[in-house]
Amino acid sequence: MRIVAVCGSMREESNTNKLIRTVAESAEIDCEFIELGALNIKPCTGCSMCMMNEGACPIDDDMQAVCEKLLAADGFIIGGPTYFMDISGAVKSFIDRTMAVKYREIGPQHSEMPWHGTDPFHGKPAVLVVTVAGRGHERTVETLKLAFDDCHRMRIVDQLAEIVGMDDVDDLPEALERARAAGKKLAAALQA
Ligand SMILES: Cc1cc2nc3c(=O)[nH]c(=O)nc-3n(C[C@H](O)[C@H](O)[C@H](O)COP(=O)(O)O)c2cc1C
Repeated sequence: MRIVAVCGSMREESNTNKLIRTVAESAEIDCEFIELGALNIKPCTGCSMCMMNEGACPIDDDMQAVCEKLLAADGFIIGGPTYFMDISGAVKSFIDRTMAVKYREIGPQHSEMPWHGTDPFHGKPAVLVVTVAGRGHERTVETLKLAFDDCHRMRIVDQLAEIVGMDDVDDLPEALERARAAGKKLAAALQA
């Protein structure tokens, strides 16, 4: 079993990153960390080449390697901060670029509409991690759920939405405890 954890915060040692790592440590499953801040992931251009070329995206950046890692994973931890009451631009670019994996004919067909491709992550368990200073996290959670549950058909086993203010999450024991509990749920889902 192997999980992939995607941290959408561009800041090193960020609160989102710390929570994601706490989830992963608690799950006690081999985990590969993908930090968007350390990668070059350009926005999707909407060229539709992936749809016509078996998922091959013409943009030459770090997303190609990220897609391979995602496709090899059994489960996921996906997190990001709240920016203007929704996901950040970096997370949105990451999500949009995952479109390419749907045209590699892996997993069940999404719907009766073939242009929706297939769902390689179908049924794979995932934990969502959202942070926010004060308010607006509801839409962030909703956006992540729409992308990874509705569109990619992952199975969301837990979701964290931590209101951190100006604090460091290391000083918020209840948030860390919720992250540990989420990790246990992810492990249970993977071992079921
Ligand atoms: C561009 C930007 C927009 C933000 N928008 C919001 C917001 O709408 N609501 C809020 O409560 N906090 C907002 N914040 C604060 C972040 O959500 C908060 O600091 C978050 O925990 C950062 O996560 P990180 O430590 O993982 O980077 C914003 C921060 C930035 C930089």
